[in-house]
Amino acid sequence: MTEPASFSWPPAPIGTARLVLRESEARDRAAFVELFASPKVRAHLGGPHAREELERAVPEVPGRRPGLFVVELDGAMIGTVTLEQRDAERPGRLRPEGGCTELGYMFLPEAWGSGYAAEACAAALDWFAAACPGEPVGVCTQLANAPSMRLALKLGFTEVTRFEEFGAEQWFGAWRPVAPRLR
Ligand SMILES: CC(C)(COP(=O)(O)OP(=O)(O)OC[C@H]1O[C@@H](n2cnc3c(N)ncnc32)[C@H](O)[C@@H]1OP(=O)(O)O)[C@@H](O)C(=O)NCCC(=O)NCCS
Repeated sequence: MTEPASFSWPPAPIGTARLVLRESEARDRAAFVELFASPKVRAHLGGPHAREELERAVPEVPGRRPGLFVVELDGAMIGTVTLEQRDAERPGRLRPEGGCTELGYMFLPEAWGSGYAAEACAAALDWFAAACPGEPVGVCTQLANAPSMRLALKLGFTEVTRFEEFGAEQWFGAWRPVAPRLR
């Protein structure tokens, strides 16, 4: 069986032209609550969570786990990008035994439409390609989630399969790092 991709965590903060990707901190808590309470953000992700429940349940330092990047613009969190293990039992596979590293992304609505998600995801994929050379990455999104579909295609994901899950048609795509050119 192929071992899942592993990397040391956390990496040093990653800077892009406009953003910083870093581990989560206590000051990100309000933005985490906002992400999970937002009907717009959660429209294709099973719906929003109750704000009161989130205020109770979200830990003091939210989302601190390997593979979760907070994306910061001008010192404030605008979203998250994740690179985490996909459950081997779920449909959508990049190898016969299932399981792969999966990209996820959630941004606050005020940050949509400026290319921030694309900029952050591209940086996270670059980091992953260096940390786990040759490892592919999967992404799964509802076909009805047009902005997410546009983003996945823009990042270079290509279709592997479509399937029905959670009462909706899902699109599962793969991204493969470009092999470094031999001299
Ligand atoms: C999916 C999601 C991250 C996409 O966000 P987004 O801001 O549309 O994505 P991008 O960063 O690629 O930005 C693209 C848009 O920015 C515009 N843009 C403006 N300035 C830009 C710039 N400097 N560079 C690039 N794009 C720019 C593009 O024209 C494009 O607009 P369009 O979608 O109207 O064509 C966002 O909709 C979201 O968080 N949704 C909720 C969570 C979710 O469903 N996640 C999917 C889980 S798999």
